[in-house]
Amino acid sequence: MRILILGSGGREHALAWKIRQNPDVSALFIAPGNGGTASEGENIPLADSDIPAVMAFIKEKKIDFVIPGPELPLVKGIADACTAAGIPCFGPDKYAAQLEGSKSFSKNIMRESGVPTADFAVFTTADEAKAYIRNHGAPVVVKADGLAAGKGVVVAKTVTEALEAVDDMMGKKAFGAAGETVVIEDALVGEEVSFLCICEDETVIPLPSAQDHKAAYDGDTGPNTGGMGAYSPAPILPETAYDGMADLVIRPILRTLKKRGHPFRGILYAGLMITKDGPMVLEYNVRFGDPECQPLLMRLEGDLLAVMKACTEGRLDSVTLSHKPETAICVVIAAEGYPGAYDTGMAISGLDTAEKVSPGKVKVFQAGTAVAEGKLVAKGGRILGVTALGATLRDAQKTAYDAAALVTMEKSRYRKDIGDKALR
Ligand code: AMP
Ligand code: GLY
Repeated sequence: MRILILGSGGREHALAWKIRQNPDVSALFIAPGNGGTASEGENIPLADSDIPAVMAFIKEKKIDFVIPGPELPLVKGIADACTAAGIPCFGPDKYAAQLEGSKSFSKNIMRESGVPTADFAVFTTADEAKAYIRNHGAPVVVKADGLAAGKGVVVAKTVTEALEAVDDMMGKKAFGAAGETVVIEDALVGEEVSFLCICEDETVIPLPSAQDHKAAYDGDTGPNTGGMGAYSPAPILPETAYDGMADLVIRPILRTLKKRGHPFRGILYAGLMITKDGPMVLEYNVRFGDPECQPLLMRLEGDLLAVMKACTEGRLDSVTLSHKPETAICVVIAAEGYPGAYDTGMAISGLDTAEKVSPGKVKVFQAGTAVAEGKLVAKGGRILGVTALGATLRDAQKTAYDAAALVTMEKSRYRKDIGDKALR
């Protein structure tokens, strides 16, 4: 099989690493890829969200199967374009991808399907949004409707802060068209956990629970990032709870989408807040999380590509997936300054030594890296994801940090407390 993976992050390196293990894979392309994917397959210098260019490449190279890593190609309709061309694509159509691409679409479908979520209202004018906020009081959450690279959510502690967020999004158009509509919702308190399921029509295969660490600094302080580390499983959502959770937050959405004529296919990821009143959905994503994908795939046994294929062929109910009983953890090494401004071009070394800390139990997935003149250098905010398996979370954590300490790169940093929350 000739496979194309879209994207350039640590998630895509993990996908390429896993998919390449399938003996039926005769060619593996990653567009645009990174320094790590270059050693798993062939990087192609194409923007993953340029649908016409991607489709031309698919036809030219006779690709048999497409795996979009990030949300943007899905939101822009890569799955519809593939379907029209008769090429299987592991991901939902453009309509269903609005679960991630539009917060108002997502909240409305949650309400219609009876999924627990924070109470909310949707606004298309700043005056009405502000009146609602003044009446509601703080804390309150303001969300830009469209994709805003993870920056479109403001959890406002005061009314003033919430009003400013509306001005930024709707007045100053900080996120362009993505902020023309805003969702305003109640602030929830609790612990967050990621629940990802492989779905097709009404069939659901839950993946093990995972917990991301979105804040830039230790103790969940500093600005939100794409994710500074993750581990799986997350004790707050134990395996015995997966099926009940799928009944609560996944299957109702699948039924509604089917009723609307857009049965879901791919990964449905529920970002949950476990509150004192029970689990509530904060958001849906329609793809693997990054960095959650790295520990998940480190634990995955068996053939991911075969399961993805079964999903696109309407026979997900005929396959199963198993996972190593160990805990996996991923510590992200980021550029100093990320998610703000940062330098690039720093030389990276020590990856082999890091992986030898515990052979077979450590994998350094690459994200913002490139190979320049034969040398590996940094080129993004999140640069590496040092991922380790251990008999317990504590073991996995120690191995990952021992390995991370052996990576040499100037002007980089990582959180020292990934996994601590689950140990407390
Ligand atoms: P989202 O993109 O909707 O997941 O929001 C990003 C982050 O904002 C989440 O991971 C939460 O940490 C926070 N957040 C979103 N919605 C709420 C809410 N209703 N209450 C409290 N925090 C929230
Ligand atoms: N790590 C969160 C996400 O991928 O959206």
